[in-house]
Amino acid sequence: MKIHHIGYAVRDIEKSLVEFELIGFKKVGELYNDTERNVIIQLMKNDTWLIELVAPCNENSPIFSIIEKNNNTPYHFCFCTDSISQQIDKLRSNNYVIIEPAKPAMAFDGRLVAFLYHKYIGIIELLECKQ
Ligand code: NI
Repeated sequence: MKIHHIGYAVRDIEKSLVEFELIGFKKVGELYNDTERNVIIQLMKNDTWLIELVAPCNENSPIFSIIEKNNNTPYHFCFCTDSISQQIDKLRSNNYVIIEPAKPAMAFDGRLVAFLYHKYIGIIELLECKQ
């Protein structure tokens, strides 16, 4: 699978995006307040590298504990897949566990996104990309 972006957990998205701009990243699209997932998202690009800044909305946010443990840190690679349901089935039969089932994501034009975990890899994200 091709890499789509790297997810980067940040405590304060407004402050972090200024610092990412200073080191060569430019904003892509607008800031999304994803109330479904309790996260705030800003995509940024440097050359061909796309990163997704993800900040928690509140203590119920899935990345709140990541920030508490590791502070600002990259925490997932996202991969493009033609069929998210087929890819999930394949990965589940290879010991991946679903941590967030496929749901539309605001920041990616409503395309389906899912999160899985493997004990030797950690968190990965799948994004359905029609090619
Ligand atoms: Ni992501």
